[in-house]
Amino acid sequence: MKTIFSGIQPSGTLTLGNYLGALRQFVELQDNHECYFCIVDEHAITVPQDPKKLRQNIRSLAALYLATGIDPEKSVLFIQSEVPAHTQLGWMMQSISYVGELERMTQFKDKSAEKKAVSSALLTYPDLMVADILLYGTDLVPVGEDQKQHLELTRDLAQRFNNKYNEIFTIPSASIPKVGARIMSLQEPTKKMSKSDENVKGFISMLDEPKKIEKKIKSAVTDSEGLVKFDKENKPGVSNLLTIYSVCTGESIASLETKYANKGYGDFKQGVADAVINILQPIQEKYYDLLESSKLDDILDEGAEKAAAKANKMLAKAKKAMGLGRH
Ligand code: TYM
Repeated sequence: MKTIFSGIQPSGTLTLGNYLGALRQFVELQDNHECYFCIVDEHAITVPQDPKKLRQNIRSLAALYLATGIDPEKSVLFIQSEVPAHTQLGWMMQSISYVGELERMTQFKDKSAEKKAVSSALLTYPDLMVADILLYGTDLVPVGEDQKQHLELTRDLAQRFNNKYNEIFTIPSASIPKVGARIMSLQEPTKKMSKSDENVKGFISMLDEPKKIEKKIKSAVTDSEGLVKFDKENKPGVSNLLTIYSVCTGESIASLETKYANKGYGDFKQGVADAVINILQPIQEKYYDLLESSKLDDILDEGAEKAAAKANKMLAKAKKAMGLGRH
């Protein structure tokens, strides 16, 4: 059975982009893979966080994972900072990665642009992500397109370590969905949909009420052509809505184009809104039940235990290969 690892940052409420690009895949994969899903709180502190809010966001993310269908009987769900092996191997990875290659990461460039000061952790963030993945002997990493470069670095560092010390790490591959890997902002459809967007109309939060979802989709930026057609270059807004519609319903983009051939954007946007609400509403109902339950804590406790058992074995191998410690 192949091993899957993926993580999401608890840095705000998840967006429809996180769901369509990543979470949705996780649920499908857990039936026939050994799965580890992580709340990567140590990644979140690479930029300033309010401690109280971070705690809330961690719990909220755990509840969202479960509400979307992550089943603790099938998958290991845990919090990164509760398994110390992650930062330990992360440090070791820093010793074999180069400042130059970390500075070339587009996520670092984006997040550090125009900032007076950035934390050193923001630069070494990918080393921790590499450790997350390698600790579990991961074969496949389901992620959205924006994580592709980090996955390439993971493969490079795994190979570098194996060549330099000992062949202990599996070389993982990214699993990026064909449709939905890069959901764009509803207001600036050439920009990625992001939970940190200052314009809240640009993204749909997984916890937005149906009315709000409808409003945001109705005010999504399109064009003046009035034609429902997929054309990323010339019609990024309509193309993004078609992508969202298609992933939410499973209907192909071609068939949606035909369905709306003689209709205006009003009807089309209503269809998109209904499709998104149909997906998110049942998740939201489960989410609010789970949030306050003690079951959530039991699942996370058990998850941390199972994850640590696996991760510590790999950490021990890596330490031995590098000559750290005595055993
Ligand atoms: P994060 O928390 O930014 O995003 C979580 C997942 O959501 C995907 N995603 C999107 N997919 C489609 N369209 C979008 N607009 C969109 N926005 C986000 C991301 O690609 C990601 O899969 N570095 C990672 C977290 C991480 C990780 C890991 C992932 C840490 N360690 C190990 C995999 C394996 C991140 O910041 O994701």
